[in-house]
Amino acid sequence: MLNGEKKLARPLRWAMVGGGRLSQVGYKHRSGALRDNTAFQLVAGAFDIDADRGRDFGVHLGLDADRCYADYRELFSRERQREEGIEVVTIATPNGTHYEITKAALEAGLHVICEKPLFFTSQQAREVKALAEQKNRIVGVTYGYSGHPMLLQMRQMIASGEIGEVRMVDMRYTHGFSASDSADKFEAQKWRVDPAVAGPSFVLGDLSTHTFYISQLVLPELKLQSLLCDRQSFIASRAPLEDNAMVMMRYHGGAVGRMWTSSVDAGSMNAQQIRVIGSKASLQWCDWLPNELRYEVQNQPSQLLHHGMAYLDQAALAEDRLGALHTEGLTDAWANIYLRCALAIDAKNRGDETALANLIYPDIDAGLEGVRWVENCVRSADSGAVWVNYE
Ligand SMILES: NC(=O)c1ccc[n+]([C@@H]2O[C@H](COP(=O)([O-])OP(=O)(O)OC[C@H]3O[C@@H](n4cnc5c(N)ncnc54)[C@H](O)[C@@H]3O)[C@@H](O)[C@H]2O)c1
Repeated sequence: MLNGEKKLARPLRWAMVGGGRLSQVGYKHRSGALRDNTAFQLVAGAFDIDADRGRDFGVHLGLDADRCYADYRELFSRERQREEGIEVVTIATPNGTHYEITKAALEAGLHVICEKPLFFTSQQAREVKALAEQKNRIVGVTYGYSGHPMLLQMRQMIASGEIGEVRMVDMRYTHGFSASDSADKFEAQKWRVDPAVAGPSFVLGDLSTHTFYISQLVLPELKLQSLLCDRQSFIASRAPLEDNAMVMMRYHGGAVGRMWTSSVDAGSMNAQQIRVIGSKASLQWCDWLPNELRYEVQNQPSQLLHHGMAYLDQAALAEDRLGALHTEGLTDAWANIYLRCALAIDAKNRGDETALANLIYPDIDAGLEGVRWVENCVRSADSGAVWVNYE
């Protein structure tokens, strides 16, 4: 169980690009990174596309005014000149900026924690992976939901054969907040339906990359062989970007899967779910009841495993923060992801590649796989919703 005791010799000096006053995701980063007060220390930032608003926001977060910068270039160059400058930066800006800011951060010698979808193309991700290796730096990706401890329980139970041979993976990430075109008036939605800023997809990148990463987390051995994606723009002005998509998948070894992702699932607040069906039993987790894992063995009463209970695997208990009596939520999951990234950065800094290899965290490969997933889905959909080999 986690209790906030320090796991690093000292907190990492941390900055943010984006995640400003009006952003949707900025506070999730800060509440995740700063939860334990021992892993990260927020010391600088270029928080906003509007430089004055960004500086003002930084000051209201309690930062020194001279460490609240106009843009990421100034942030990286000025911090580099300081004896105790930043060591790691989070990038929480719209998708189209991730690639150039990540590259600039790595060139400045920083570790990076970046938002998803990581980049527009897998070629960009491979290039950045090579740059990170050359610079000996970490790139983490904030697949925040994946920090819920019950997903590690799911991973362990599948690995130890408790559901038998995996046959099907059923995934969904939908909500209804874009059911009407009035949603597109809001700043955070405008760019999501603009290919120049959002990239080659809307909901496939925005939503399904989360659930796709969760499938990789709980099923690390399962590899995609081919898929068929059909995507729609129910609000016509969003074309060519989709607000709904359905994907069928075939994995190497014979298992099959499906993913439904949508922002026009009218009335739905947020519905993310993964069900893994094996030859003996099934496991099901959803993000609106993240403290539970449903375990259904054929011909037996179903069980609801509960977070923090002694019967769980050590991996799931190790990241529990509140104990079984109290409800954990998304901010706890984000705190776990940030802690995992901090441990990865620390291991990298110490040159401890063994420790690094044993850590489970959303790394550059996880970011690359998310981009690759979107690329393959778009290729299938735009070829007329046909089966394509997974490339
Ligand atoms: N991991 C998650 O659960 C999750 C949730 C929401 C958003 N996201 C991702 O986070 C990113 C941001 O999404 P959002 O919804 O917060 O967007 P948003 O439009 O609400 O906020 C973007 C923020 O970035 C700032 N910004 C834009 N360009 C900038 C630049 N060049 N330099 C500095 N600041 C800049 C804006 O001023 C704003 O503060 C996207 O990639 C999105 O996909 C992830």
